[in-house]
Amino acid sequence: MSGERIAVYGGTFDPPHLGHRMAVRAALAALQPDRLLVIPTGIPPHKGMEDTAPTGEQRLEMARLNFRDLPGLEVSDLELRREGRSYTADTLRELMECYPGAAFTLVIGGDMLLSFTEWREAEWILQHASLAVLARREGEHPLLEAAAADMKEKYGAEIRLLNAPVLEISSTALREALPLGQGTEYLDPQVVRYLLRHRLFGIRPNPDWLRCHALGEMKRHRLLHTLGCEYEAVRLARRWGGDEEKARITALLHDLTKGAEYEEQLKICREYGIVVDGLGKAQKKLFHAITGAKLAEVDYAADPEIVSAIRWHTTGRAGMSLLEKIMYVADYMEPGRDFPGAQEVRDLAYRDLDKALLLGLRQTMEEVLEAGGVPHRDTADAIAYYTKREGEADAE
Ligand SMILES: [Fe+2]
Ligand SMILES: [Fe+2]
Repeated sequence: MSGERIAVYGGTFDPPHLGHRMAVRAALAALQPDRLLVIPTGIPPHKGMEDTAPTGEQRLEMARLNFRDLPGLEVSDLELRREGRSYTADTLRELMECYPGAAFTLVIGGDMLLSFTEWREAEWILQHASLAVLARREGEHPLLEAAAADMKEKYGAEIRLLNAPVLEISSTALREALPLGQGTEYLDPQVVRYLLRHRLFGIRPNPDWLRCHALGEMKRHRLLHTLGCEYEAVRLARRWGGDEEKARITALLHDLTKGAEYEEQLKICREYGIVVDGLGKAQKKLFHAITGAKLAEVDYAADPEIVSAIRWHTTGRAGMSLLEKIMYVADYMEPGRDFPGAQEVRDLAYRDLDKALLLGLRQTMEEVLEAGGVPHRDTADAIAYYTKREGEADAE
């Protein structure tokens, strides 16, 4: 369309964060363009991060998530489709062909303005596009104004400084924070989900984020139970020398699919490639341990220890890890549990974890038998295993 006013915002978006979103909102508000094109740059993956660095396609996907719902905004793969390094002049030429007669404004950060004249074909760019500059740091304005005045005089550049809110965060800092389980507060939740699902940047699940975004749709009673488990699992981990962070994450994720109906459980199985054996089908209320473990692994980048503790939290099994025991016992006797027997397990748990576990397993078995059900094979195995261990310990 002739006469269209198009703003262009490029970047590596590695990963895209809320600072980028704020910048775009500021540009939209100040420039009121007919269209704002967000263009992820085509760059090679970061050195030394090959395993967990996103591909261009993944950066594009994340940019689409990060900038979704903004009016007039489109995320373009123009630079990713082009071979080799991305130069703004080439991009601008391509855009001028796609949108003949349009007036272009490049939205850039303050640091980019200061080095702009070193860009390839800087003068040509300034003849064919105006610049809108976002200050990234407080107090940057006088320096930027001086640089803009200089470029106007030398090249006739049209430059506008935008009063954008400042969010002191960089993708570089985020790449360092994410493997430590930090930084998610600077990211859109959908971008975090994407990072977790694709295990990018070595991201680790973060309990605060999980509490806000993974448990959001849980019914109130299950949410309270989950938080009770978290409290108890962390205390048990502290008492028995376990990993408190892992205990916390295990508890937060252990009943993720508990609310799903049988058909829904089967759907999750199909979607996540879980093979359901006859036993799984027969013991449908135990399904959520299997589907929950898979979801924790795939959607929340949980490590194998956590996945295993979720997998065995309903039945137990012979030879459980410390985290598996902690999750089983915490689930059995968290503060919200008031059925007969919970208090006995509670009394034991901080004195002898194996005894508390065995009591919980036995009481579960009795309950199933009383209800006329068939105890699960894994529970029976666990009881046999821990009864034998208890006998050996007593004999010593
Ligand atoms: Fe459960
Ligand atoms: Fe539970």
